[in-house]
Amino acid sequence: MELKEYYLRAGRLPAVAGLVSLLLCLGLTACFESIKDTHPDQVLTKRRALFKQYTRAMEPIGLVASGRKEFKQDEFLALVQDLEKLSTKPWVYFPADGNYPPTHAKPAVWEQPAAFKQAQEKYQLSVHELLVAAQGGKLEQVQSAVDGVTNSCKACHKEFRYE
Ligand code: HEC
Repeated sequence: MELKEYYLRAGRLPAVAGLVSLLLCLGLTACFESIKDTHPDQVLTKRRALFKQYTRAMEPIGLVASGRKEFKQDEFLALVQDLEKLSTKPWVYFPADGNYPPTHAKPAVWEQPAAFKQAQEKYQLSVHELLVAAQGGKLEQVQSAVDGVTNSCKACHKEFRYE
């Protein structure tokens, strides 16, 4: 290979690689997921991971409430205990400097901390009520307590998260 040709190729290679990764990015919305978390403590990554666990923990609970899975009290109680353990966890990962892209949290999280705290407490209370209902062992009460939990997830999202 002539020297001139070599330089030409070497010069073009990064440009080609850049174009390829750009095209991949446009094709895959998952690209967003790989955006680097710029916070030194990775608070966005941490709170999102916890919220994903919320969804995962709620799945089998929802199946029981909708009658698609049998209500076995001991098993169900263990699921709710897991949910209760999670219920206090995400909130420390909303520190004062925790509002940065690509967060879906609304500025209200930081502008109205008392209201955000209240939404957390309402949620925790609803999970506690579900625990009490599970201990009581009556499916009807369990079902309405599960509604209470999903409603408080939704209520907080409506006020504090962009859809
Ligand atoms: C007190 C408020 C609050 C409660 C209660 C709450 N969330 Fe959220 N949730 C948020 C906020 C704020 C975000 C946005 C986080 C971000 O992008 O920075 C969020 C994000 C999420 C996400 C997206 C995570 C991601 O990967 O981007 C899921 C899923 C989720 N919540 C599920 C739930 C479920 C399920 C419940 C109830 C069992 C729940 N949340 C209760 C405030 C709440």
